[in-house]
Amino acid sequence: MERWRVQEAGQEQLLRFWDELTAGQRQSLQGELALLEPRELREHCQRAQEAYVRDKSCPQRLDHNMCPVPEEFLGSVRRSGPGELRAWEEEGLHQIAQNKVAVLLLAGGQGTRLGVTYPKGMYKVGLPSGKTLYQIQAERIIRLQQLAGEKYGTNCSVPWYIMTSEFTLNPTQTFFEENNYFGVEQTNVVMFEQRMLPAVDFDGKAILERKDKIAMAPDGNGGLYKALADNHILEDMEARGILYIHVYCVDNILVKMADPVFVGFCVFKGADCGAKVVEKAYPAEPVGVVCQVDGIYQVVEYSEINPDTAEKRNPDGSLTYNAGNICNHFFTLDFLKRVARTLEPHLKYHVAIKKIPYVDKEGNLVKPVQPNGVKMEKFVFDVFQFAKNFVAFEVIREEEFSPLKNADTAEKDTPTTARRSLLWQHYRWAVKAGAKFIDARGHLIEQSSRNPELEDPPAVCEISPLMSYFGEDLDLHLNNKDISSPFILDIQRL
Ligand code: UD1
Repeated sequence: MERWRVQEAGQEQLLRFWDELTAGQRQSLQGELALLEPRELREHCQRAQEAYVRDKSCPQRLDHNMCPVPEEFLGSVRRSGPGELRAWEEEGLHQIAQNKVAVLLLAGGQGTRLGVTYPKGMYKVGLPSGKTLYQIQAERIIRLQQLAGEKYGTNCSVPWYIMTSEFTLNPTQTFFEENNYFGVEQTNVVMFEQRMLPAVDFDGKAILERKDKIAMAPDGNGGLYKALADNHILEDMEARGILYIHVYCVDNILVKMADPVFVGFCVFKGADCGAKVVEKAYPAEPVGVVCQVDGIYQVVEYSEINPDTAEKRNPDGSLTYNAGNICNHFFTLDFLKRVARTLEPHLKYHVAIKKIPYVDKEGNLVKPVQPNGVKMEKFVFDVFQFAKNFVAFEVIREEEFSPLKNADTAEKDTPTTARRSLLWQHYRWAVKAGAKFIDARGHLIEQSSRNPELEDPPAVCEISPLMSYFGEDLDLHLNNKDISSPFILDIQRL
């Protein structure tokens, strides 16, 4: 064993149990250590400890220097006329039809709050079709390619880049293979892996989670930029002729992948970087706020804002910091190149104080009840500061944002709320398309004013994204038709 590596990093505790390990265990620990360059490991542990001390004595707060996004930089679906929206949508579809748009899914997170051991994208929220989040997303891509291709007479594709981590790569890959990539062309799905970083205790020592295993965690969704460089993803995009990338997170069941309206808006405005936002639902909602700090665009994360600031209101009663980040970002390829090749080292780490299971000095496994360590993460939106032309775009929450964060024991952002949001949306689309819902006795089901957050829609109607990306083209199948609930509108795949 090259002991010098851990000595040079000041992390000898990682070999505390070396003498007791079997040959296989030694090999696995050695493999982990070989990936950690001693100087980087030492600096990482020092940085984590310093950040912890700083954060504890004086949490970094940006509140004093915050300012809302100026109106002129905030596009809005609600405040735009149909003509404008159509023009943006056509522009977006045109770019898609010319193979210039890709989507990039951030799927390296551990989904701790949801409490499942597999990647979140494989989760089924209990839809009548039994579809998973990954399948819904795949089908939206397929339908969008069809819409853009038909409109502009091309045969186009929207490549799907998927950032995974050590936790999610293998299961995600296997899941896609087993499901035949849900009908997406396999060559258009590119999975790659982000880096991992050791979790560090409050004394600056990397933590052992087992005698033969270092506690590692993904380096945050801002690990994207290193991962793009590590895996030559930007070269792949360039070779395909991609100019625009829509980055999104895995858990929003209503996500409009490569949304032509958003893409078109950003292209029209000449933006190199953009963010979709929704009006915050309540001051303590766990969403970051898009704003300016010292005149520079950024997101102040929900974990880093003072409650007083989050609660600030305008004279008309609306929240001052109202632009809730839904983790849907637009980047030009040129912007990503600039970030990945030169600016990434300037991104700061955020400190998360966590309860990290560990082996104590006697070799017992301990599940701490109090936080005992630090995870360091970069955030995907911290690159906004580098934008030459940043725009924000406000969309309608009911149509575009319902994240799956928690298990059903929580009140919000659960499998139930996600399923309900999607079924309400499909119900609204169906009613608009002229569907008449009937119950088991053949009686018309009245449209009622139920509370979408607390109750299911009056009739259950799930529409496959393969049939409709955003409510379009449903009249043909639904207008004036008697539909008995529950109903699934889907097409047979070839
Ligand atoms: C995120 C946003 C928050 C936003 C909210 C909306 C960040 C840092 N925060 O918060 O501002 O209001 O979504 O729902 O973006 N991920 C990785 N690698 C990692 C960690 C996470 O790929 O190392 C992925 C996750 O798989 C997920 C996405 O990043 O797809 C968001 O991560 P999550 O930790 O769930 O962020 P939130 O705290 O919900």
